[in-house]
Amino acid sequence: MSVTFTVYDTLADAPDAVCADVWSLVIEADDAFWPPLRARTPEQGLSVGAGAVLDETPDAYWASIQNHALITAEEAGNVLGMMSVAQNKPLEALKLTATAYLSTLIVAESARGRGLARQLYARLFELARRWSQTPSVATRTWSTNAAHLPLIAQLGFEERLRLKDDRGVGIDTVYFLKPL
Ligand SMILES: CC(C)(COP(=O)(O)OP(=O)(O)OC[C@H]1O[C@@H](n2cnc3c(N)ncnc32)[C@H](O)[C@@H]1OP(=O)(O)O)[C@@H](O)C(=O)NCCC(=O)NCCS
Repeated sequence: MSVTFTVYDTLADAPDAVCADVWSLVIEADDAFWPPLRARTPEQGLSVGAGAVLDETPDAYWASIQNHALITAEEAGNVLGMMSVAQNKPLEALKLTATAYLSTLIVAESARGRGLARQLYARLFELARRWSQTPSVATRTWSTNAAHLPLIAQLGFEERLRLKDDRGVGIDTVYFLKPL
């Protein structure tokens, strides 16, 4: 069965069945994130450290990505991987606006190691090139994310900022940028 990649202008515009699959991915992967997505709010972006509230489900996070573009990897009618991407995102920490800011990347556990994340990135770069003649792609992750960091390095992202212990003792937030 072959994998197809689709770009939706926004998550909110995607068909209900796609949204339902993406929600399932988010729920499945929630504890793979640090902090979990259900500890986030649209206002704060991240809620970490003392006083952080863990919601039952990541509703605030889900609301925050409704207007982001959605890239899916689908096989046999099921979404196996997703990216949510904000267009022209001002990043105060980097003092720049990224053409495309990758806010979420998830591949279903059952589909990992098949190159889907790498292929989703290829679609993300195409999208950024459609959005701008001088495109840049940014993302951020936590410093102990052993699966994502090697891929980010292989794709040629530059580390632009490291916020030490931002997500707990020994867990930094790291910002990456790739001019295309
Ligand atoms: C990170 C993630 C998206 C990778 O998805 P994937 O489809 O399995 O990744 P790919 O198969 O495309 O792998 C591409 C490269 O990533 C790196 N990689 C992927 N999984 C890895 C792992 N478990 N350990 C180390 N490197 C890994 C490798 O460099 C790999 O290249 P290689 O196969 O040539 O060695 C997936 O593990 C995931 O969804 N994790 C949970 C959510 C998450 O951490 N998202 C990113 C948050 S910022």
